[in-house]
Amino acid sequence: MKRHLLEAADLDRADATLVLDTAGQIESALAGREVKKLPTLRGRTVVNLFYEDSTRTRISFELAAKRLSADVINFSAKGSSVSKGESLKDTALTLEAMGSDAIVIRHQASGAPHRLARWVKGSVVNAGDGTHEHPTQALLDAYTIRQRLGRLDGVRVAIVGDVLHSRVARSNVWLLSTLGAEVTLVAPPTLLPVGVGSWPVAVSYDLDAVLPKADVVMMLRVQAERMNASFFPSAREYSRRYGLDGRRMATLPDDAIVMHPGPMNRGMEIAAEVADSARSTIVDQVGNGVSVRMAVLYLLLGGAPEGTS
Ligand code: CP
Repeated sequence: MKRHLLEAADLDRADATLVLDTAGQIESALAGREVKKLPTLRGRTVVNLFYEDSTRTRISFELAAKRLSADVINFSAKGSSVSKGESLKDTALTLEAMGSDAIVIRHQASGAPHRLARWVKGSVVNAGDGTHEHPTQALLDAYTIRQRLGRLDGVRVAIVGDVLHSRVARSNVWLLSTLGAEVTLVAPPTLLPVGVGSWPVAVSYDLDAVLPKADVVMMLRVQAERMNASFFPSAREYSRRYGLDGRRMATLPDDAIVMHPGPMNRGMEIAAEVADSARSTIVDQVGNGVSVRMAVLYLLLGGAPEGTS
């Protein structure tokens, strides 16, 4: 593993498999234990530096670091000296001066984790930057697919919806391709990025044609907060063409699963009956996120400092 995890492309097949296998070992080691804690990162400090809202990722990283016995500092830009104009660089150097070993960063600007990695000596983990990448989400998605289907090689994954604004889609495209899955992006032409033709994926505008051949359907949130133009005629029209409802779900192969990174717009890209169905892995994805993020922190920080284990 490299020192940082900034994007899915930082992981070759061996590294990605190592993270998934390590997450599995951690899950097994903690299963059935009353105290779900390992001493591995005792004496290390992990900072969660969140400039953008989050529920799952922030809590998941906090829990992951605590379960590895690290000291955890949760920094939210709201209520900090960022409101007085302090820069990302000065904030990061301040946190490092207080002894942080790893910084987990979520930022509204694509590329912020890469800048941060040039300024600090410790490890940097990208917890979602703008519309660019969200590598640990892709890792937990891959872990969940492997857990449910038993493999990733040759698995047919349809990623559906607002690909244009989705860091989850970008990270999944690169990671799943590295791990041998066959990815098809399904979206209206207005919600596909320029240059998608050079990505290692197939592209379709027709969800009904793709579903009967998919092993995994990954629905994406329609990111209204990032839309400064009209990308589709109406929410109803979007839902009719690209939403996953019970009727569409019934056309999937018997063993196919439905995923969503959350947060969901129920009734927009995914119907409640689908989100709450037996095919849905949405809750499993959240639970697996903790094991996967424990594996990432463990592998990046290399376990306990000498003499303390
Ligand atoms: N999937 C995801 O990143 O969710 P949060 O925005 O709640 O962290």
